[in-house]
Amino acid sequence: MADRPVPEHVGSSPCLTRAQARAFYDRFGSKQDGQAFYEDAAVQDLLAHAEFEKANAVFEFGCGTGRFAETLLTHHLPAAARYVGRDVSTTMVDLTRQRLARFADRADVRLTDGAPRIEAPDAALDRFVSNYVLDLLTAGDIADVLSEARRVLTAEGRLCVVSLTHGSTPASRLVSWLWARVHRLRPQLVGGCRPLALLPFLSQDGWRTIHHNVIVAYGIPSEIVVAETRAMPRWNSGTGCAPAQSAA
Ligand SMILES: C[S@@+](CC[C@H](N)C(=O)[O-])C[C@H]1O[C@@H](n2cnc3c(N)ncnc32)[C@H](O)[C@@H]1O
Repeated sequence: MADRPVPEHVGSSPCLTRAQARAFYDRFGSKQDGQAFYEDAAVQDLLAHAEFEKANAVFEFGCGTGRFAETLLTHHLPAAARYVGRDVSTTMVDLTRQRLARFADRADVRLTDGAPRIEAPDAALDRFVSNYVLDLLTAGDIADVLSEARRVLTAEGRLCVVSLTHGSTPASRLVSWLWARVHRLRPQLVGGCRPLALLPFLSQDGWRTIHHNVIVAYGIPSEIVVAETRAMPRWNSGTGCAPAQSAA
């Protein structure tokens, strides 16, 4: 896909292949909801800043068991808003469909091959969500997912992402250091997820961050980002050149 430099900070730790991620989450299934003990505080922070109440069409990349989708559809989205969920795991897609059965007329949940490609027209969605999924992907795939998010979001649309991140306190620094070491040795032991920093990915691709936070729960740090698409300055479209200075 896009041929662009990606941030170096994600390190050289090997990621699960898409087939390995599918196999892991097919087995893991509903046990994913057991991660709520450290995920929920970060997800609540996202909900508080993403204005889902104003959304018409939400896309979720890596919907897992459908827990977040159910929360959105039950408590946050307007009654007519549509939800689109995609996941690489058959088990997860089945769990989400079961969970959202009562919203079947508004929810479209399908299996993907895991490629960072979003099957939606340009500017068709107003929220793009991905919780604890980017931290599984290679740096190239993260950059491609964000580029696709930018393409499918409307001008007022919002990117809403949560991921594992690096620690900000002595205890959480130790936890994230240990987590990263386990990931480097046996990524399957931590579901393929490793701590990373999201902001460097956003700074290079035309985003304006409207909310950024790091929340530590039980020693595990999560990064929350809500961002809007930012129109590239006209002088920067195509040429990469700054406008000529006018003579004084
Ligand atoms: C750690 S779980 C998070 C699930 C859910 N978003 C949550 O917050 O509970 C990661 C999810 O991403 C899915 N996943 C992993 N790689 C993916 C990819 N390349 N494309 C789509 N989904 C992917 C997994 O199957 C799994 O459901």
